[in-house]
Amino acid sequence: MKELSLNILDIVENSVKAGAALTEILLEETEDKIVLTIKDDGCGMDEQMVKSVIDPFCTTRTTRKVGLGIPLLKMAAEQTGGGIDIVSKQGENHGTIVSAVFFKNHIDFTPLGDVVSTIVTLIQGHPDTDFLFIHKKDDKEVQLDTRMLREVLEGVPLNCYEVIKWTQDYLKEQYEGL
Ligand SMILES: Nc1ncnc2c1ncn2[C@@H]1O[C@H](COP(=O)(O)OP(=O)(O)O)[C@@H](O)[C@H]1O
Ligand SMILES: [Mg+2]
Repeated sequence: MKELSLNILDIVENSVKAGAALTEILLEETEDKIVLTIKDDGCGMDEQMVKSVIDPFCTTRTTRKVGLGIPLLKMAAEQTGGGIDIVSKQGENHGTIVSAVFFKNHIDFTPLGDVVSTIVTLIQGHPDTDFLFIHKKDDKEVQLDTRMLREVLEGVPLNCYEVIKWTQDYLKEQYEGL
């Protein structure tokens, strides 16, 4: 993928599909790297499933279609000298944490791209799901919490035009300071 923001979109879609009520998207950026953490409270996966999603061609299972969202994230991270990690739990306290490290100065680093559009697209497509987005860079940060937005909006859907537009402007404005 040309932009990491598209990988992020794909990975967060997995969380939504897993029935997550809240998905946290954290970007921690320093001089030389970006650490991405996507944490959800969805249904989770068992150990075998985690193995097969990381390496879909290694699985002996042919009955289940396995996608490429996670392998593509893995490739984007590994080609910079970084990597990914998945921790997942089913049953009590179910959920999944997908984390990835990217080295920014590596020649094969894929730029982050349009993260604002990714976040806005997620909210627009899933107005009843909550997202906490934080992008930290040095001592500054961009933040959006749909739970707080929802509280203020008192029943107005998060995907109505005015709210989407406001959200987009709010994020863009914060990015000017990052
Ligand atoms: N956050 C998650 N929670 C639960 N299951 C997940 C999660 N992420 C991925 N999965 C499982 O792993 C599979 C593979 O994910 P992915 O590589 O993105 O491909 P795709 O989404 O096209 O199936 C998903 O279909 C889903 O069953
Ligand atoms: Mg996917």
